[in-house]
Amino acid sequence: MNRWTSAWLPALLLAGGMRAQTNNALLQTMVSQAKATVAEAHPPYRTPFSVDHGKKEWLLDSFRNWRSGFWAGTQWYLFEATGDAFWKQEADKSTRILAELLNKSPHSHDVGFQFTCSFGNALRLAKDPAYAKVMLRAADSLATLFDPKYQSICSWPYRVKTLGWPHHVIVDNMMNLELLFWASKNGGSRRLYDIAVAHARTTMKGHFRPDGSTAHVVWFDPATGQPDSMLTHQGYADGSMWARGQAWAIYGFTVAARETGDPIFLQTARRAADTYLKRLPCDNIPYWDFDDPAIPSAPRDASAAAVVASGLLELATLVKEPAVKLRYRNAALAMLDELSSPRYVKPWMNHAMLQHSTGNKPQGKDIDVPIIYADYYYMEAMIRSGRFAKKVK
Ligand code: GLY
Repeated sequence: MNRWTSAWLPALLLAGGMRAQTNNALLQTMVSQAKATVAEAHPPYRTPFSVDHGKKEWLLDSFRNWRSGFWAGTQWYLFEATGDAFWKQEADKSTRILAELLNKSPHSHDVGFQFTCSFGNALRLAKDPAYAKVMLRAADSLATLFDPKYQSICSWPYRVKTLGWPHHVIVDNMMNLELLFWASKNGGSRRLYDIAVAHARTTMKGHFRPDGSTAHVVWFDPATGQPDSMLTHQGYADGSMWARGQAWAIYGFTVAARETGDPIFLQTARRAADTYLKRLPCDNIPYWDFDDPAIPSAPRDASAAAVVASGLLELATLVKEPAVKLRYRNAALAMLDELSSPRYVKPWMNHAMLQHSTGNKPQGKDIDVPIIYADYYYMEAMIRSGRFAKKVK
């Protein structure tokens, strides 16, 4: 040992130990928040999704809501991080109930969110073939929404029926493709893969603006079958960059790149990520929409930050250039540092893991509150980053 190491080694070991201790303490906080959530009475078929200002307990929603798979998924991640069989049992209960969604028709594009987060993690961590059967049925139900004329999955078929909307796609829908990719490689038909690729290509063509930002909603021209106009539903304006929409694009195209190996999807994920990072505030958490003129008084969206952190950690593994890898990974870690700080982790306020997400500001819903998908992607990102060490293989 030279003079330098003998002087600094104890300090380095102590710092490393303190870091591990800090992450361990953070995980314990997440566990106790989730245990408090389990202790709240949840009637069957209702799942936690948000918390009202000033309240401690979660608001519940019908399991038919698009967010219903996140609570099950969060519990699977707690099992993965802690190895505690309690979480396996709770996650399994929350997961199995969702299978009933498949008895309803027509299905929604959100089955991708609902089933990948719940059954997908269940299968990965518990390997029960019964989970795979449900996933395959879910993928087939999602595929019924694919319209070959538009080379894409319709997002809200009920708006077509009741409001006279044309065929349309929301950028969020990129997140549902993982279910199709999985199914096509695990006993489902090759067509599921082709649908996922076609949908991703159509989104690439229709949703991106020249600056690399994405529109929330795209309407299609029934005469040509081509993307026609860009709108928003949850963002500030048709031309604005809604933070979570951009987050879904980053994460969704990263999955498409992983599953296909197609460099065009990798390039698209990078384009979405670079645009997001270029405009990100220096504290690494976006305002709910990058173009809200109320910034810096506009609410933040911790959920977008958690989705992007998780997506970037995977994107960093797919890019080849070491400097770009490092840039994405460091950006993700900086986001997780901020999300893990007392500015977002405030267990004394309620039973959520993270505060300060924004769900649907234009409709006045879930503004600056905890939202279950923030917790889900935060847990995922913390595990991907290695900060919550994996205990289950
Ligand atoms: N529709 C999914 C979201 O609110 O991001």
